[in-house]
Order: sequence, then structure tokens, then C-alpha cells
Amino acid sequence: MSKKLYIETLGCAMNTRDSEHMIAELHDKEDYDVTPNIDEADLILINTCSVREKPVSKLFSEIGVFNKKKKEGAKIGVCGCTASHLGDEVFKRAPEVNFVLGARNVSKITQAVRKDKFISTDIDYDESAYAFSEFRNNPYKAFINISIGCDKKCTYCIVPHTRGEEISIPADLIVNEARKAAQNGAKEIFLLGQNVNNYGRRFSMSTHEKMDFSDLLNRVSEVEGVERIRFTSPHPLHMDDKFLETFVNNPKVCKSMHMPLQSGSTSLLEKMKRGYTKEWFLNRALKLRALCPDVSISTDIIVGFPGESEADFQDTLDVMEQVKFEQIFSFKYSPRPLTKAAEFTDQVESEVASKRLQILQDKQEKILDEISKTRLNKEYMVYFEELRSNGMLAGKSDNNALVQIKGKEEWLGKTMRIKITNPKRLSLYGEVVF
Ligand code: SAH
Ligand code: SF4
Ligand code: F3S
Repeated sequence: MSKKLYIETLGCAMNTRDSEHMIAELHDKEDYDVTPNIDEADLILINTCSVREKPVSKLFSEIGVFNKKKKEGAKIGVCGCTASHLGDEVFKRAPEVNFVLGARNVSKITQAVRKDKFISTDIDYDESAYAFSEFRNNPYKAFINISIGCDKKCTYCIVPHTRGEEISIPADLIVNEARKAAQNGAKEIFLLGQNVNNYGRRFSMSTHEKMDFSDLLNRVSEVEGVERIRFTSPHPLHMDDKFLETFVNNPKVCKSMHMPLQSGSTSLLEKMKRGYTKEWFLNRALKLRALCPDVSISTDIIVGFPGESEADFQDTLDVMEQVKFEQIFSFKYSPRPLTKAAEFTDQVESEVASKRLQILQDKQEKILDEISKTRLNKEYMVYFEELRSNGMLAGKSDNNALVQIKGKEEWLGKTMRIKITNPKRLSLYGEVVF
């Protein structure tokens, strides 16, 4: 009988993909199968995120709970970004943990489970060309890493300290992975990296052909069976004309763009080391809307970054007003160890930041109400990828709107024309147009 693995995945899509790699390696090389029941697990993995303080502080109470629930002899492993940043402090604070495996050390998972105690958190470790075993949570949509790490060093962000320097994965490996995924039925490819449109900046092999992200998008779109391509996260600084034109003109590239703004104030953007101004961001977003009227634009915004004045915050609201983002992920600034901004002396009071977050979220709700009204009776091509427990079939339109219909299981993995009969803020409900 196989051994059982319980795995919890926090954080971003890169962690989701790392978890898939760990599940695959453990299945093929160590005979583990995933279980949803912690009490029958032989191995418990927590794939952690450290981008904000909250999940990190929850980690240790969670380890305590898992330790009580686990069966005799079961092992606990802490993986991911918090493993990278805390290193052996994890053992000091939670001696019941058997191994600590950093975000760039995923390929060592099989070594880790064979030992009583193991740690590997080297952020210079290069696994960009490692051939991982294959497993995907969702057979319809394939996540593929195109780079690891991040060179940007935004002053608020811990990621460069947990995932190390940026290395692009060789294009041939990416294209092969896309081909294999498409042969297994994935019509949608989701390219992942912290900074995807900086692709090609550095490869671990010096012989790699010169290639940028636009070239890569075109290469992946030529793979037989691939119908849709999405990617995250691109950086507004690298949104040059070539990139915008490739995005707009390649029909397989889905028309939804993530443009992480962070702040609308040029002086705060400089303090964050984002490398662009309010004007550049607006220029790119409005050019994109002009080139591609159906595009949907999502963003990430931080409120309460050190030194944020009322006027800075108004600049952020002004960008929201001008761009009218279809989706916003908004966060209260959280000081992180190892980052420059944590040492800035002009931290914003927590209540002020909470108030601003509320104002921003209220404003976005109003914008979304306006947007969703315009979607009534519109028709979208929707790729169905999930049957929900309430019986609804869920999928995404090309421009990333969540669409749900009462449908049949055999429509999973199919792209169908849907007319929207009931548009809500967070999801559109509709019917098939036969
Ligand atoms: N590489 C991506 C972001 C990865 S982190 C990019 O550049 O867009 C995801 C988001 O978390 C960021 O876009 C930012 O909005 C938020 N974030 C990062 N560090 C944060 C911090 N210290 N406090 C609050 N939010 C933060
Ligand atoms: Fe963090 Fe900036 Fe890199 Fe994004 S680009 S991961 S926000 S350092
Ligand atoms: Fe979190 Fe690491 Fe992703 S800090 S957001 S899991 S890169």
C-alpha cells in the first residue's frame, strides 16, 4: 500500500506549481499518494508564503495543531518561502518539524523525506533545468514555470530574499512541457514567473539563444493543441510596445492583463523602487485599452506604504478612476524582515492604512457594479475547467471573467459560447448559446 501525503499550499501560483512538483516527485520516487485527511498521513507538508506577516505568524500555531492530529511516526515538512527566510529558526521554534525545504530547493524533496532531520534553504540553488516528474491538479489548465527568482528588489518585498536571483528556464523545456500538457488535454497554458516579461534576462546556460517574452509567447502559441495562453506576473516597467502588440495580436494570448500598480504616486513608486511613474503606468494601460477594447486589466495595490500621504493615496484612487480595473488585489502594507522599507522611519499608522483600504475597496465595488451592468446579454467564449460542489460548471472568458452555468460534466474541458443573463460583481451567470 502506498504512503499518504497531506499537503497544504499557501501563497501564489508559483507555490501551487511547486506543490505539484513535490506531489509528483513523491509519487513517482517515494510511492506517496495525496490524502485530504491529516490523521491518516505519513507525511504532512506545509508549503508556506511570507509575503505578508499574517500567514507567517499563523504557521507555528498550525504546526502545533498538525502535530497533535498526526498519527504516530508521521513526518512534518515546512517548505516554500517562509522555509527560505526562517531557515533553521523553524526547528528552534517547532522542534517537531522534520525538515525545512526552501522555495528553490523543491527538487530535494525526495532526499528530505528519507532523513530524520533535513534542511536545505539555499537561495542560489539552480533547479531551472531540473526535469521534475509530472502531476497537475487541474488537467484542463497547465501551470508552467518560465523563470525562478526575482531581480527587482522592490523595497517592500521579501520574494527576492526567498526565491533568489532571477533565472529564465530554457525555452525548449517550456515548449516541451506545453506540448506534453496539451497532449494530456490541457488547452490552456498558464506561464508563471515573478517578472515574466523580463524573460530572457539570464539563463543558466550561456549558450541559450537570445529570446524575450514576446518571442516565447509566440513559440508556445505554435504548440499543437494549445488554445489559450495566460501568464502572471508581468511588470509594468517592461511593457514595451513589442510586448503590448504581441499580447494584442496573438489570438491565443488571452485578453486579460495583470498590471501590478502598487501605488499611483510617482514619488512612492520611486521609494518602492518600481522603476516606473504614474504617467508611464497610465500610458501603458490606456494604450492597451485603445489597442484592445475587450481587454480586462487586473492589478495589485498596497496601501499604507511608509510615507504615504493623503495626496499619494489620492493618486492611487485617480489611477483606479482612469483605468477602471476589472479586478484589484489590495493589501495593507506589511513590514517584512530583510526588506529596506521595514527600516523606513515614516511608517503609516495602522488605522490610517485600514481606512484607506476600506475607501479603496468601496470605490472598486462601485466600479465593478458599473462594469458588470455592461455585461448583461453579452456573449463570451468560455473554457470550462471546474465542476463546483453546488453543481455549477465554472470557467473563464477569454478576458478572465468568471462565468458559471448549470451544465453537464461532459462539458468540462470544452469552450462554449455563453450568453450572460445575470451579471454579478464577482461572477457572471449565463446560458449556452447553441
Ligand atoms: N512579482 C509580483 C508580485 C508578487 S507578490 C509583482 O511584482 O507584481 C504579490 C503582491 O503582494 C504584490 O504585487 C504586492 O502588491 C503584495 N505585497 C508584496 N509585499 C508586500 C508587503 N510587504 N506588504 C503588503 N503587500 C505586499
Ligand atoms: Fe517582489 Fe517586486 Fe520582484 Fe514582484 S517584482 S516579486 S514585488 S521584488
Ligand atoms: Fe508568497 Fe513566495 Fe509566492 S512569498 S506570494 S509564495 S513567491
